[in-house]
Amino acid sequence: MELTTDVTNLWSEGDLNKFRRMTLIWGATVLLLLPILASLGYFMRMFQSNFFPHMRPEWFYAVLTLHSLGMVGTWFVGGMAGVSYLLTQYTHPSLAISKLNYWGTLVGVLLLVACTLGGLFGTGWYFLFPLPLYSQGVWQPWATVTFFVALAVLGLCWTIWTLDLLRAIAQRYSLKAALGLNYLLGKPGPDVPPLVLISTVSLIVSFAGFVAAVIVIVLFGVDALGYAIDPLLMKNLTFFFGHILVNITMYLGVAMVYELLPSYAGRPWKTNRVVAIAWDAVLFLILFAFFHHLYMDFAQPRWVQTFGQICSYFLAVPAGVVSIFGCLALVYASKMKWTLASVLFFLGIMGWGVGGIAAVIDSTVEVNFHFHNTLWVPAHFHTYYLMGVVLIILGFIDHLGLEVSKLQESPPRTKAIITLLLLGGYGFLSMFYWAGAHSIPRRYAVYPNELAQGTLYARVAFGFITVLLCGILLYLWETGKRCIKAFSA
Ligand code: HEM
Repeated sequence: MELTTDVTNLWSEGDLNKFRRMTLIWGATVLLLLPILASLGYFMRMFQSNFFPHMRPEWFYAVLTLHSLGMVGTWFVGGMAGVSYLLTQYTHPSLAISKLNYWGTLVGVLLLVACTLGGLFGTGWYFLFPLPLYSQGVWQPWATVTFFVALAVLGLCWTIWTLDLLRAIAQRYSLKAALGLNYLLGKPGPDVPPLVLISTVSLIVSFAGFVAAVIVIVLFGVDALGYAIDPLLMKNLTFFFGHILVNITMYLGVAMVYELLPSYAGRPWKTNRVVAIAWDAVLFLILFAFFHHLYMDFAQPRWVQTFGQICSYFLAVPAGVVSIFGCLALVYASKMKWTLASVLFFLGIMGWGVGGIAAVIDSTVEVNFHFHNTLWVPAHFHTYYLMGVVLIILGFIDHLGLEVSKLQESPPRTKAIITLLLLGGYGFLSMFYWAGAHSIPRRYAVYPNELAQGTLYARVAFGFITVLLCGILLYLWETGKRCIKAFSA
């Protein structure tokens, strides 16, 4: 089967330059947000360490809401911007839509800052029904309205972005080909780079997630008008959306690694039958794995819980195992060029593995019975976020900055950055895991006397976060220089 467009005709040099500059702007924005949002996490661990005994706990929850939504959103757009740029080698995503998303995302972020820091809106990142509508006077109705307007703006922009990337892929490959159906059926067809396959799977799934989010927002409105809404339906829809958004962000990062790591290893990493089966299976399994968030909801039908556990287990095999072993096989005995970017890619994939194992443990009903709503939960998703996709996106930004600026990298500073990020990151996470395994609940602003260990773990974590922040600042210094030079090139 022929491809629908010749790749050499896709871009003029000038247009490609503009797209690269837009990607650098996205990268710089992500780099700016990282220390701000990480400092909010630092603040929360200080709060839990009892460093601010006179501050109202409402501040903790407002900061929790901003930190969590800010982080989830930042790495999603970081992943989308990176994948869009890499897709320019094969397809023609719209620059105008990337710009629209940039401004839309900024508006959404400002609205979120206003309702959380200005209005103390503090439902946490998944604003579980009906909490936003019952503030008990902690926040005012304007803060709730502002929050939903922010979600609507972000949701609309990101849906348009998702559809545009799918449009670009379909124009060149057709969606069937992009999903690697010819590999599955053993039929002749175009070569589909893993980047295209994984992006297609991720974008289709994110579209489904955004549709669920729209339904949730509309149902909130219906409830506000006085019509009763089923809370279990709302919880299912909310977790369907939330689980998908988090997983898709990771997959966007993985897609970038499939595309870029081979250039450092000097070997190809191509789509084959196993890779196609793995990622197409994700398309199905991810739609049902979210049920593991509702194990403690006794009203949920039992078969749903069983099916949720089976899908959660199987979800780890196709994407996780195939990609982690693929990554190890790519690097093993190769003439690997280890740079800041390639080390971050490699560590990011391994961090995904570590967080994934902790997630699978928690998705086992029997274990979840003990770990549900303990700090084990933030432990596992912070692992595959912070030590997974965040490292990959930081690697991508450095890769791009270095490629365009042609600056030399300093090996001692690279080693220092990696050491600080690993020590600080895993040290900080180990306190979440340790506390979770000792039944310390999540989302407590301060721990009561019965849970005094929680305060101690928070203090230890505070020390590790200090190390992590030093690593982040050194990274920003190094990569920031490259990005500034790249931007003016
Ligand atoms: C950079 C270092 C980070 C620090 C110091 C940090 C710290 C924290 C802390 C202390 C909490 C509250 C945990 C609790 O007691 O329940 C939290 C929650 C959260 N963080 Fe982070 N975090 C960091 C990075 C990230 C990243 C990269 C993400 C990625 C999206 C993220 C997403 C979240 C989310 C979604 C929550 C809400 C958890 C919940 O609702 O239980 N954080 N973070």
